[in-house]
Amino acid sequence: MPTRTYATDDLVVEWYAERCVHVARCLNALPEVFDTRKRPWIQPEHASTEAIIDAVEQCPTGALRYRHADGRPPRPVSETTVAFPVHNGPLVLRGRTQVLAQDGTTFTEEDRLALCRCGNSGNQPFCDNAHRRVAFEARPPTPATAAESPAERCPPQDEAFG
Ligand code: SF4
Ligand code: FES
Repeated sequence: MPTRTYATDDLVVEWYAERCVHVARCLNALPEVFDTRKRPWIQPEHASTEAIIDAVEQCPTGALRYRHADGRPPRPVSETTVAFPVHNGPLVLRGRTQVLAQDGTTFTEEDRLALCRCGNSGNQPFCDNAHRRVAFEARPPTPATAAESPAERCPPQDEAFG
């Protein structure tokens, strides 16, 4: 369930507060609509539907979403196109992505995701900005060049990967 919704006759913008890490892409994209100093902080009546959708799609975490008031489907999206780790932060995914639970069922299917890398999010597997609270520092990868078999890397752990 979204934390809050903001509607015009044509569009409903949804904001999921627990997914918002305040990187301000929305504020920079369309300041006349997205402004944290105002209440409500989203005022969709100040821009066109297309402009708002463009701004919503810039939200990297999926905290912002939209639906058309008449029920027509949102713009089609591509398969996963981008995946990159934010410096000392989450893993960001772009494009239609399925996240599976350990039993193989679909946990969620979304277009924009930021997955926790620090292990401290209270909203796993999503980033909830806890990495900043704990001053997470991603460790550089351990050199693997000396290993001559998997046994020299770590104990077997196949059950953890389903
Ligand atoms: S772009 Fe998304 S994550 Fe960033 S402040 Fe806006 S709603 Fe929050
Ligand atoms: S990476 Fe953001 S809460 Fe873990």
